[in-house]
Amino acid sequence: PSQDGLKICCIGAGYVGGPTMSMIALKCPEVQVKIVDISAARIDAWNSDNLPIYEPGLHKVVTACRGKNLFFSTDIDEAIQEADIIFVAVNTPTKKVGIGAGRASDLTYWELAARRIAQVAETPKIVVEKSTVPIKTAEAISAVLHGAGKTRFDVLSNPEFLAEGTAITDLDNPDRVLIGGQLDESGQKAMDTLADVYAHWVPRDRILLTNVWSSELSKLVANSFLAQRVSSINAISAVCEASGADVDEVARAVGMDTRIGPKFLKASVGFGGSCFQKDILNLVYLCESFGLPEVAHYFHQVVHMNDYQKERFVGRIIHGLYNTVTGKKIALLGFAFKKDTGDTRESASIDVCRRLIEEKAQVAIYDPKVEEEQVWMDLTYACKMDKTEVQKYVTLCPDALTACKDAHAMAVATEWDEFKELDFHQVYDTMTKPSFVFDGRNILDHATLREIGFVVYAIGKPLDPKLSTA
Ligand code: UDX
Ligand code: UDX
Ligand code: ADP
Repeated sequence: PSQDGLKICCIGAGYVGGPTMSMIALKCPEVQVKIVDISAARIDAWNSDNLPIYEPGLHKVVTACRGKNLFFSTDIDEAIQEADIIFVAVNTPTKKVGIGAGRASDLTYWELAARRIAQVAETPKIVVEKSTVPIKTAEAISAVLHGAGKTRFDVLSNPEFLAEGTAITDLDNPDRVLIGGQLDESGQKAMDTLADVYAHWVPRDRILLTNVWSSELSKLVANSFLAQRVSSINAISAVCEASGADVDEVARAVGMDTRIGPKFLKASVGFGGSCFQKDILNLVYLCESFGLPEVAHYFHQVVHMNDYQKERFVGRIIHGLYNTVTGKKIALLGFAFKKDTGDTRESASIDVCRRLIEEKAQVAIYDPKVEEEQVWMDLTYACKMDKTEVQKYVTLCPDALTACKDAHAMAVATEWDEFKELDFHQVYDTMTKPSFVFDGRNILDHATLREIGFVVYAIGKPLDPKLSTA
């Protein structure tokens, strides 16, 4: 359906707002899409050839629309005033201080954005929550908007399910689009307007309309279940190592049960990303505040298992290297939380590196996409050290080979394809002997590595007889 003249604005030009709005602009050429942000640097980057986030296919989508019906701007007020639909895609990190610290979402950015909308909006607006938020946020936001605003607001919940690294294909072909709204006439009309935007490219039967609470809760539940699957297979990886089973064989056998399904059963050093831990902790906090401690405890265990898995990996490295890594060089390959992104939020690499620093190892890091400054920011924060202190233990390398030179061990923390293509004969020749590989992603050819001479540890695989475990 044509929506000629419709104007959309999105507050927050990050990992969610940027790609999502670019896709809407691409699919709805008659709709004007304007993305605004308080960070002028971010907006400048979006307007340049060097986009602020790395995402395969994104550049093509942005350049196809930018300047035609897609605009990036810091003029937030103007964008709000013009828009019919305002998406809010600001960051909602876990609270660091105050009530609910470490668990509840920090809604400061959301509330500031809502208050701005209330202040400047003169005509009726559809306000869409895109950021993952705790349930009942729409209600609170609606109260702020109507309390402080001078016009009508329909608040919708429209959680985003894209995964980083595959954002463009996920947006192009989503499993579903979820829209939650008030069930009165005005709410229904708002939902229909938003549904019509997505219907430009998403089949109608994949656009679900629900009440606001179902929509908000579904996002938390989807991420909690996905994280739970990863923690489940990671828990089983420990059983595999103890029993001699192979976790990939188990995952394959289990995943062929159509009731279980094959996806998201890849054992790893631990899940990361801005969403999983945050959303589970959100759900846990919510359950606790509803007086449901058993449910809270059940889901909290998913996070505990993830911490256990990261620690177990580090333990394998330390025990493998004869119970000490002090002064030993360890190549850490991959710093992003998964491949095909430069994002490091909650990356398992950060914890692995922090623990190796605590053990006074020399860590040589290589990641193909993560910015150097980002690594220093993450490590100074995680280790509670200043940069010069961290630099006593950590060096950043321009490639994997440099990182591995003279190293006692190579640890793979991110499943970047290029790590599979390394010349392992060459790597082996440059490393200290005996040379160890700790494959935290099970992407390497372990049999070949052993033939070359490496001692190899892989998640959930029968243990190498040459690997020390005590
Ligand atoms: C189960 C396994 O499905 C089967 O593969 C294995 O060989 C034996 O154990 P069964 O116990 O016969 O089979 O029945 P199943 O359909 O799995 O149901 C088990 C229980 O879970 C039932 O009480 C069922 O009512 C309950 N259930 C199942 C739910 O409460 N909700 C569901 O969504 C599915
Ligand atoms: C996730 C959800 O998938 C997405 O729907 C939601 O919108 C945001 O959160 P994202 O965090 O970008 O997306 O990436 P995802 O592919 O889900 O991976 C999350 C973490 O789990 C990564 O660290 C990944 O390496 C890890 N993972 C995933 C595994 O360790 N094993 C798996 O089988 C799958
Ligand atoms: P996400 O992964 O949820 O997209 P990001 O941190 O990548 O999170 O992006 C959120 C963006 O929102 C940032 O670029 C930040 O500058 C922006 N932002 C936060 N608060 C506001 C606000 N009140 N007005 C406009 N932009 C905001």
